[in-house]
Amino acid sequence: MRHLLRALVIAVACGLIPIALTAHQLKNPKLTNPVAADAASLAAGKQVYDRQCASCHGDHGKGDGPMGEEMNPGPGDLSGADWKHGSSDAEVFAVIRDGVKYTGMRAYGRKLTTHQMWDVVNYVRGFRPRTH
Ligand code: HEC
Repeated sequence: MRHLLRALVIAVACGLIPIALTAHQLKNPKLTNPVAADAASLAAGKQVYDRQCASCHGDHGKGDGPMGEEMNPGPGDLSGADWKHGSSDAEVFAVIRDGVKYTGMRAYGRKLTTHQMWDVVNYVRGFRPRTH
């Protein structure tokens, strides 16, 4: 009986726990940017940005677009080092895809393709001074 118990413990340790982790990762895939920030991506990102984002965020991400000025909270300054919702590729992507509830930042997950959203991520991250 004790052997059986030990075998069970080992089985759980070796088998089930990794399976649980895999299931977790499948549900919450880690967002990694699949689109290189090359000239083509930045140009495509700029095009989307100028059309869909600059009215609030301003041409250079300073939050000084005509629509952004009247908002509370305002769009923030994407050319600064501190981004409220984080400035990693994954965090910026999530804000663009899901929006920010109760603010003027709407979700773009249905308006833009995944590729377009990564292009915009690449473009807006260029507003920010690189710290590394
Ligand atoms: C109608 C105005 C409006 C438009 C259009 C808009 N945003 Fe925003 N955005 C906001 C506001 C307001 C916030 C601030 C949300 C908050 O304070 O939590 C914001 C926040 C953000 C943030 C997070 C900033 C931070 O400090 O963490 C990012 C990134 C962003 N927007 C990108 C975009 C992109 C890219 C587009 C175009 C696809 C876009 N936004 C379009 C109003 C807008």
